[in-house]
Formats: sequence, C-alpha cells, structure tokens
Amino acid sequence: MDPFEIKTKKPEEYLSSLKDIYPAPYDKTTTSPYTKTRIILATGAEYEAAWFSHQNQRTVTDCDLRRDMALLRYVEKQQQQKLANLKPINESLLETTIAYEQLAVDLTAEMAQKESNFAVKKALDFALLEDFDHLYRYADLLDMDDGVHAERLVGGYTEIMPARPTAAHHRHPYDNVKEHINNYENNTQTILNTMIITAAEQQTMNYYMNGAAFYKNDQGRKLFEEISLVEEEHVTQYGALIDTSGDMLEKMLWHEYAEAYVYWSNYMTETDERIKKIWEEYFETEVSHLNAVKELVRKYLNKEYDEVIVNHKFPTPLALHENVDYVRKILADTVQYTGDLTEYENIDNLPTNHRFFRFNSRLTDPVGEEAGHKVIADYIKNQGKDYRYEKYDHPIKALRERCKDNCAVGIKPDAAKSSGFTPLENIG
Ligand SMILES: [Fe+2]
Ligand SMILES: [Fe+2]
Ligand SMILES: [Fe+2]
Ligand SMILES: [Fe+2]
Repeated sequence: MDPFEIKTKKPEEYLSSLKDIYPAPYDKTTTSPYTKTRIILATGAEYEAAWFSHQNQRTVTDCDLRRDMALLRYVEKQQQQKLANLKPINESLLETTIAYEQLAVDLTAEMAQKESNFAVKKALDFALLEDFDHLYRYADLLDMDDGVHAERLVGGYTEIMPARPTAAHHRHPYDNVKEHINNYENNTQTILNTMIITAAEQQTMNYYMNGAAFYKNDQGRKLFEEISLVEEEHVTQYGALIDTSGDMLEKMLWHEYAEAYVYWSNYMTETDERIKKIWEEYFETEVSHLNAVKELVRKYLNKEYDEVIVNHKFPTPLALHENVDYVRKILADTVQYTGDLTEYENIDNLPTNHRFFRFNSRLTDPVGEEAGHKVIADYIKNQGKDYRYEKYDHPIKALRERCKDNCAVGIKPDAAKSSGFTPLENIG
C-alpha cells in the first residue's frame, strides 16, 4: 500500500457536523478488547497531530501557512473527539485504564518483534515490562474497589502479573534520554514505530494526569499520579528516539503519513464492522492531509514528498494481538535493568553511588508505602493473596509469591537474575 497513490477530496470536504462527531458508543461488554485499544491508539495519534501543529504555529510567521495548518488541525481535532466519545458512559475511568495498559503492552510487544534497530528495540522491551506491571497494579485496584476482574476486560489475551515493580520505574530524568535515530539510515517501520509509540505513551500520560483527580479515593488518585509520572518517563524515552533533523513541514508530512498508517492498520485488522467504517473514512481523511502537506512541502521547501519519505510504501499493518510468550521472555531476560544515560544496565552492575539508587529512594521513601506497592499490600491484606491472571508459573521466581508484595526486584542488586536484551535477528 502506497498512500501517495490514492486520490482524495480536499481536506475541507472531510469536515463533520457536530451531530456527526458524536458517535454511538461501543458496548463495553461485547466489544473486543483490541477494538478498544485500537480506538485509544488512534486518539493518541490525533492528539499528537493536533498538538504538534499548535506548537509549530508558534514558530511560523506566514499566515497563509498558518491557515492551512489550522484547517488540518481542526479536522484532526474533530477526529480525536469523535473517537474519544466511542467510550460508553458506563465504562469507568479505571476500566478504560486497563485498556490503556493492555494497548501499551501489546502495541509495544508487536513493535519490538518487528524492530530491526537494536537501540529502538531495547527501548521498547525496556518500557514494555513497566506498562505490563502497571496493568497488574491497576487490575488489583479495580478488583478491590469495584469487584471487577480485569482478565475479562483484556479478554484473556494479556496476562496480569507483577513485572519490574512500579516503584523501580522512578529514574533520574537523565537516564531516560536516548540517542535519536536518523530517518535516512532507518527503515520506514522503525521511523513509524518511534513516532507511534511516542504518541501512544503521551496519550496515556495525559489520560492519567487528567484522570487522577477524578478517581474516587486517595489510594487510586495516588496510583494514577505515580504511574502518570512513569508515563512521563516513557514519553521522554520514546520521544528522544525520534529523528531531530528536517524542517517542520517535513516532520508534518511524516506525521500525516504515520496517522494514515495507523488508520490503515486499524482498518486491516478490525473485527467490528461499524468501527471498521470509521477507520476507512479516517484513513481517507488522512490521505487528504498527506496530499495537502505534500503540496506545502513543494511550495515552501521546493522538495518532493519522496525526498522526505524515501520508502513510502507502508510496512505490514500494526496488529494488536496476544504476546504472552514474548512478554515472558523479556521479563525473564531484563527485569533487573534500569536506564543508564543513553543505555540500559543491570542494577547488579551499577556502582552503589549511581544516581538511580539516590533518585529512586528519594521518590519512593518509605519503601513499600508508595501507591504501586500499597495497593497490592492492601489487596493481600484483605484477600490473603494478590489478584493476577497467569497462564503458567511466573518466569521470575521472586515474583511468584502471591501472599507478599515484592519490593526488591529492579530496585535491589541480586533480587533477580537477568541476562540482558536480545536483538531481533537472535530471537528464534
Ligand atoms: Fe488525524
Ligand atoms: Fe503504563
Ligand atoms: Fe508507558
Ligand atoms: Fe492528519
């Protein structure tokens, strides 16, 4: 699929009425979890498109260009809001949160398994374990507060169990900054992965940040607050990977291309016929943006689109599906790792005065009392053992214990064994 070969109407033709942008919501009990996660993925891509454009307007003086940007941005905003309102009224903040973390797990795992750039793959594998752990903490809160078992919400596709514990995710900001890729040295899949995962994590960070204060008790508000800060770290990590070169309009062309790819992927993999029609319509809308920005690149930069996006045929669609074995492998191999400037390191090998230990204990003091641990400890106190959904034994021995929350893995040297990250070509 080459989106540049598709003819569309002008962007203005894709404006909707207020009536049209308020959709009938999905049924939360019968809709596939992956339909829900595809909706979240697309809302994240739209938010990124709109805010990238807002930020850039502040650097552009030409009002002709600003008007063209404003028109596209307004359409993005309409798309964003329609998708956000597919969530039904009766789906709670915390139930939607389970879908956010399931998306983070299964999107990250899907990308990592196709990622040929080892630095990008390491970033994906690294944050994968953290979002996987968030899913477990939120799931225990959901059962404790509302008696809802998250395994139903994830459709049994994604396991729910402790990973690198959330308390270990608090790193010094210096240790989240990675080297950026170069679009001319990397394949289209890698470029799309860096952009799409950044948009998804940013959407998650904003959702938790804004949602935290609406949760019904202190425990939950604290958990949202804590995990939102971790998502901020993820946005820094992934955003750092994105190519820094190129003019704003070249970056905008890439944004439209990435949005078109998200909708095409959703269309290709959707099982819900009604939602599939939205993906089809929005794919066409994005191609109209792509064609419009192609003209702007020509007009203002005197460049052709294929000088910016050299390999413009889409890679295979992004597919959301179960990744149980892959997640277990990454868990077994890398649970003890943390960020160390632009690299990752096993905490067993860090000097005792490394800023990780200093920063982490400053945030989580006293150990075991921060929300991520507290929610599990309280659950165990009430029920005797934690809530989890495992297909077989946990791959990390120290995390098999269900009657006592583990406060050491990923924080204390020698709390678990980890062999390290593996590049794609070495995974059988
Ligand atoms: Fe859009
Ligand atoms: Fe997360
Ligand atoms: Fe995340
Ligand atoms: Fe767009």
